[in-house]
Amino acid sequence: MEQIEIRPMAADMAQAASHLEGLCFHTPTSPTMMWEELTKPEGIYFGAFDDKTLVGYVGMQSVLDEGYIMNLCVHPDYRRRGLARELMDALLKGAEAAKLAFVTLEVRESNIPAISLYKSLSFEEVGLRKNYYQNPTEHALLLTRFYKKVNL
Ligand SMILES: CC(C)(COP(=O)(O)OP(=O)(O)OC[C@H]1O[C@@H](n2cnc3c(N)ncnc32)[C@H](O)[C@@H]1OP(=O)(O)O)[C@@H](O)C(=O)NCCC(=O)NCCS
Repeated sequence: MEQIEIRPMAADMAQAASHLEGLCFHTPTSPTMMWEELTKPEGIYFGAFDDKTLVGYVGMQSVLDEGYIMNLCVHPDYRRRGLARELMDALLKGAEAAKLAFVTLEVRESNIPAISLYKSLSFEEVGLRKNYYQNPTEHALLLTRFYKKVNL
C-alpha cells in the first residue's frame, strides 16, 4: 500500500482542497474562500498527502480558547483506511497544545461514518440545529469535545 503522509496544509493547497470537497460535499468551499480560511492566523489545517496529491484534509479555526472544526473530508478512493482518524488526531493534538477549552462542530444527523468517528474521539452531543443543511435539507447535530469545564 502507498505511504500517505499527514502534514500541515498551507494556502497553496486551496485549489486542491476545494476540488477534494467537490468529490465529498454537495456544496464545496470555493478556492477563494478556502484560500481565505487557510491564511487566517487562527487556523489549524492538516492534509493527507499521497506523494504531492491531497487526498484528505481537516481544518479548524479558533476564537480565544474555542475551536471550531470547519471541515473534514477524505477522497472516496482513500476511505476506510484510518486517514480521517489520523487527521483528527493531529488536529486534536494541536487543539490541546493551543490549550483550547473545547472543540466543536456540526454534522448532518444522517452522517453515521462521521458521527461514529467523532464519538470515538470523545465528542458529546450538545445540541441540534433544525434544518441547518440544504441539498438535502437536514438537521445538524452539534458535537463538542471538552478539554476544560466550560459554561456554554
Ligand atoms: C467521514 C469520513 C471523513 C471518514 O473518513 P475515513 O478516512 O474513511 O475514516 P477512517 O477510515 O479514519 O475511519 C475512522 C472511523 O470513522 C467511522 N467510519 C468511517 N467510515 C465509516 C462507515 N462507512 N460506516 C460507519 N463508520 C464509519 C468508524 O468509526 C471508523 O473507525 P473504525 O475504523 O475503528 O471502525 C469520510 O467518509 C468522508 O470524507 N465523508 C464525506 C465528507 C464528510 O461527511 N465529512 C464529515 C463532515 S462533518
